[in-house]
Amino acid sequence: MKVSVKVPATIANLGPGFDCLGIALPLYNEVTVEETVMPGSGIEINIIEEDEDYDILSVPRDENNIAYKAIELLYNFIGQTPNDIKITIKTGIPIARGLGSSASVIVGGLVAANELLGRPADDKILLAIASEVEGHPDNVAPAIFGGLCLSSLETDGSVAYSKIEWPKDWKLTVLIPDYELNTIISRSVLPESISIKDAAFNVRKCAMLIDSVYRCDDESMKKSLKDKIHQPYREPLVKGFKEICELVENKDDIIGCTIAGAGPTILIISKDDGFEKIKNEVNDIFTSLNVDCDIRTFNVENEGTKVI
Ligand code: HSE
Repeated sequence: MKVSVKVPATIANLGPGFDCLGIALPLYNEVTVEETVMPGSGIEINIIEEDEDYDILSVPRDENNIAYKAIELLYNFIGQTPNDIKITIKTGIPIARGLGSSASVIVGGLVAANELLGRPADDKILLAIASEVEGHPDNVAPAIFGGLCLSSLETDGSVAYSKIEWPKDWKLTVLIPDYELNTIISRSVLPESISIKDAAFNVRKCAMLIDSVYRCDDESMKKSLKDKIHQPYREPLVKGFKEICELVENKDDIIGCTIAGAGPTILIISKDDGFEKIKNEVNDIFTSLNVDCDIRTFNVENEGTKVI
């Protein structure tokens, strides 16, 4: 028996929501899990690229694979160990670009294995296991549930979460550069501690952001999409971010921009097709920096992971 699931891409760290706010995009990885009939065949992991540009050679094909790790934790949860298992990952989400490709593989393995096992784990358990493997919940929550998700990793390992309706006319444009940025490197540039002043800044912006989304208030959202926890430190690693921030500051129908997850993709939020008005200027910025950039505009993905 085998089960395939489709998992969306995600953008973590939305504005001031470091490690707690993420949103799903309609770009997908497909993960298939099957218990192989041949006893003793062990773990088999296959990766099929939809786009030859993705660097999949570095993805582990053994028990260190993150999809396998998540599946192993699920089996352990029901007091079992996975023995002979085949995982196939069809990649449609760019790797190491801040678009949640790791989270989608973790969630894909987990949800597919949960189906195979007769759904022993509920959503909360799946979210807790996926967050444990990923290290933070802001990608895995929207990967499972779709939409904008607020998530909080609690001290007991559980994850509190809430899905918040995203305004229909707020579009998401991702500027995906031609270079990778490993999350471990991008996390290593963050300081051990920040000042009370910066923490207070993010607390009030985060509260404003949630309120802006509930009220679909563009002006308030513009003021909310700021951050002092990670973006100032990661800015040197994300080519064009400073220039894009300056460009969008006072443009009509542009709500704001933020680093997607740990970067290097940049997210621009616009009202309707507002991005079209600045597209040429955005292209000019990347041309001047010698960076090839794949630019795509999406509506939010609201379905989350689906069994296919
Ligand atoms: N919140 C995470 C980080 C997202 O900033 O490191 C990247 O996986």
